[in-house]
Amino acid sequence: MSSYDVVIIGSGPGGYVSAIRCAQLGLKTAIIEKYNTLGGTCLNVGCIPSKALLDSSEHFHNATHNFSEHGIELKGLKANIKQMIQRKNDVVSQTCAGVKFLMDKNKIDVHTGVGSFVDKNTVKITAVDGKETQITGKNIIIATGSKPNYFPGMEPDKKRIITSTEALNLQEIPKKMLVIGAGVIGLELGSVYGRLGTEIEVIEFAPTILPTMDSSIGKEFTKILKKEGFKFQMEHRVQKVENKGKSVILTALNKKNEEVTFEADYCLVAVGRKAYTEGLALENAGLSANQRGQVEVNDHLQTTTPNIYAIGDVVRGAMLAHKAEEEGVYVAELIAGQKPHLNYNLIPGVVYTWPEVAAVGKTEEELKAAGVEYKVGNFPIKALGRARASMDTGGFIKILADKTTDEVLGVHMIAARAADLIMEAVTAMEYRASAEDMARICHPHPTYSEGVKEAALAATENRALHV
Ligand code: FAD
Ligand code: NAI
Repeated sequence: MSSYDVVIIGSGPGGYVSAIRCAQLGLKTAIIEKYNTLGGTCLNVGCIPSKALLDSSEHFHNATHNFSEHGIELKGLKANIKQMIQRKNDVVSQTCAGVKFLMDKNKIDVHTGVGSFVDKNTVKITAVDGKETQITGKNIIIATGSKPNYFPGMEPDKKRIITSTEALNLQEIPKKMLVIGAGVIGLELGSVYGRLGTEIEVIEFAPTILPTMDSSIGKEFTKILKKEGFKFQMEHRVQKVENKGKSVILTALNKKNEEVTFEADYCLVAVGRKAYTEGLALENAGLSANQRGQVEVNDHLQTTTPNIYAIGDVVRGAMLAHKAEEEGVYVAELIAGQKPHLNYNLIPGVVYTWPEVAAVGKTEEELKAAGVEYKVGNFPIKALGRARASMDTGGFIKILADKTTDEVLGVHMIAARAADLIMEAVTAMEYRASAEDMARICHPHPTYSEGVKEAALAATENRALHV
């Protein structure tokens, strides 16, 4: 039986990054993955394939709607969904192969099969052909991720009632798609198909889209997406979704409690994800999943069985690849005897629509609830020369700063390239910058980053220069 310092179950961004860091620190490491390809949800059916399709559909959308104004005339434009999906598959294969290369380079043993606990130090690996092997680890890291969630009545049949996984592999452009949930997946994958010509109608339980973000984002972004053709049915409670062969019928209760129905070719269920621990036999290691299906951990990501840790989507907190990665590094360093640090307040969130949406730190609602007195600096993207040059004028940048100390507490934005712009705010906040610090930094002209400076100026003393 092979013995290791660390055995990691699950090869998503949490597991594989943790494995690399363990190996860098001189720990003999093994990783177990039930699928043949490494990389988990993120690389196979999450971040990477969705961004590949977002990029392809964005090119098509621009070519269809914006090129002519730039003086570029095209005729006979057509979206070839099969080629888009094929390119996406190639991107996924290359990226997954990259993880295998990194495992080999770092001398990490990869075991393929379902990992399950035999006891707190032993893991059984069951291959697809049923063959069983066992390995031991002084330390074990659970990094088994998450799966799509759904509620009674909306069970995906994976044909017409689909999850993100099937939506990333459609072989036709639907005429109409219903999307349950105006969260990240609903808006990103809704954008992919909306840009290709599909009519998108979103059915959402909450009164605003992206309900967990700063409320100013939801209000402004609704207007932008409506212009792109999205239809929103807010405050609707979905009762059931039925596959009628060539179409789906969704029944919901509206605000007035009246029954309403919607019909489309497909219904994408995007109401969140749930932690995944199936097949792990947690009980053999003295563990159990909590009511939300998560593995409980303390502040050091350690379970109640001290040599077993858990990271990423399977534990509490944001279900994000970069959060999983940071936790993977944290646990590896902790096992190696170091004293790592992870700032959960500064994990940025990004929605990769166009314009992009990005945020870090506290929302206005959170500051109000905590009784913190704050100032707001707001800057509209349309006031930037660069935005006019590229015709990407939608959105705003908003900076929240402490009223007394001027420390930046939260940054929220809808803007072209917001996914990259947000990092300036994350860096500044990591060093506990004030709004004035950010405002006094020289920003290159003409760029979108000038919007960050202007919002910081606005937060400082209402001193924005270009409004
Ligand atoms: P996972 O990536 O889920 O990996 C867990 C792995 O464990 C899987 O490979 C699974 O097969 C394996 N496993 C499970 N049980 C066992 C077992 N018993 N034995 C062996 N192996 C097992 N996040 C972002 O930050 N940015 C994005 O742009 C983004 N886009 C997304 C788009 C979509 C459509 C989806 C669905 C998610 C997206 N996410 C994004 C979220 C991101 O994918 C997850 O937060 C991230 O993958 C979590 O990483 P993880 O390592 O915890 O788990
Ligand atoms: P989500 O939590 O972002 O959004 C779910 C939405 O569904 C919410 O708006 C919620 O109010 C709504 N909802 C819940 N129950 C409902 C019901 N019964 N009827 C109607 N609406 C209902 O979850 P989503 O979009 O499924 O994404 C799952 C996870 O994947 C997220 O936590 C996210 O962190 C991660 N992800 C991250 C991405 C990124 O970082 N760009 C991209 C895609 C996913």
